[in-house]
Amino acid sequence: MMRIAVFGANGPTGRHLTGQALAAGHEVVAVTRRPGSLPARPGLTVAVADATNPAAVGAAIEGTDAVLSALGTRPGGGTVTTYSASAAAITSAMARHGIRRLLAITSSVADPDWRPTGAHFFNHVFDPLVNRRLARPVHEDMRRMEAAVRGTDLDWTLVRPSGLFEHPVVTDYRTAEHSADGVFTARTDLAASMLRELGERRYVRTAMGVITTAVKPNVAKLVWNEGVKRK
Ligand SMILES: NC(=O)c1ccc[n+]([C@@H]2O[C@H](COP(=O)([O-])OP(=O)(O)OC[C@H]3O[C@@H](n4cnc5c(N)ncnc54)[C@H](OP(=O)(O)O)[C@@H]3O)[C@@H](O)[C@H]2O)c1
Repeated sequence: MMRIAVFGANGPTGRHLTGQALAAGHEVVAVTRRPGSLPARPGLTVAVADATNPAAVGAAIEGTDAVLSALGTRPGGGTVTTYSASAAAITSAMARHGIRRLLAITSSVADPDWRPTGAHFFNHVFDPLVNRRLARPVHEDMRRMEAAVRGTDLDWTLVRPSGLFEHPVVTDYRTAEHSADGVFTARTDLAASMLRELGERRYVRTAMGVITTAVKPNVAKLVWNEGVKRK
C-alpha cells in the first residue's frame, strides 16, 4: 500500500482516482485549492495548494510515495499555463523531497500520430476544428507539460486519454504505448489504468494511452455534459 498525492482531486477524474485508491487500501493526500469540496473519509488527508506554487506543492506532497496528476483547465480564453506551471512546480518539489514516481494526465492529442481507426467524422471534422483549433492553447500547454516531465530523471508516466466521459464502473479498458486507438475514455477507466500502472510499472519513462471500447458514450449527452453544462 502506498501514500499517494492526487492533484485535481476534486475534479471529475480526480474524484474517481481518489475513491478507487482509497478502496484499494492506499492512503491519499488530496491536493486541492478548495478543501471544502472534499468530505472527510478514512485514509484521506486534504492538503491545500495551488498546483503552480512550488512551496505549497512541496509541503503537500512531502512524505508521499507517488504523485498522480488529474489537473486540468477548460478551453477558452487566452494562453494556458496550468499544465506547464504545475509540471514545473510538481517535478521540482518531487526532486527536492526525493519522491520518484509521477503519473500525469495529458491527452491522446499530444501524440502527433494519433488518428483513431475508422473515426472519419472525428479525424476530419472534430479533431481539426475542436482539438487543433478551439482547444489549441490547452494542447500546446499540455505539450509543454510533457516536455517538462520528460526532461526530469523521475520515474514518470504521461497518461493520455481520449475524449472523456462518465461511466459508472470500470470496464475492460485498453492501454498502449504513446496513444491508444480509440476516440473515448471513461474517467473510471482512466483512474483505474493509473492505479494499475502504479503497481505494474509497464510504462515508466514513456507515455501510456488509455481508451474505453466496451461501452460507447451517448455523444449528444457528452457534448451537453462536457461542453455546455460544465462551462
Ligand atoms: N475532457 C476531455 O475530453 C479530455 C480529453 C483528454 C484529456 N483530458 C484531460 O484529462 C484531465 C482530467 O480531466 P477532467 O475533466 O477529469 O478534469 P478537469 O476539469 O480538467 O480538472 C480540473 C481539476 O484541476 C484542478 N486545478 C486546475 N488548476 C489548478 C491549480 N492551479 N491548482 C490546483 N488545482 C487545480 C481543479 O481544481 P479547482 O476545483 O480548484 O479548480 C480540478 O480539480 C485534464 O488534464 C484534461 O485536460 C480531457
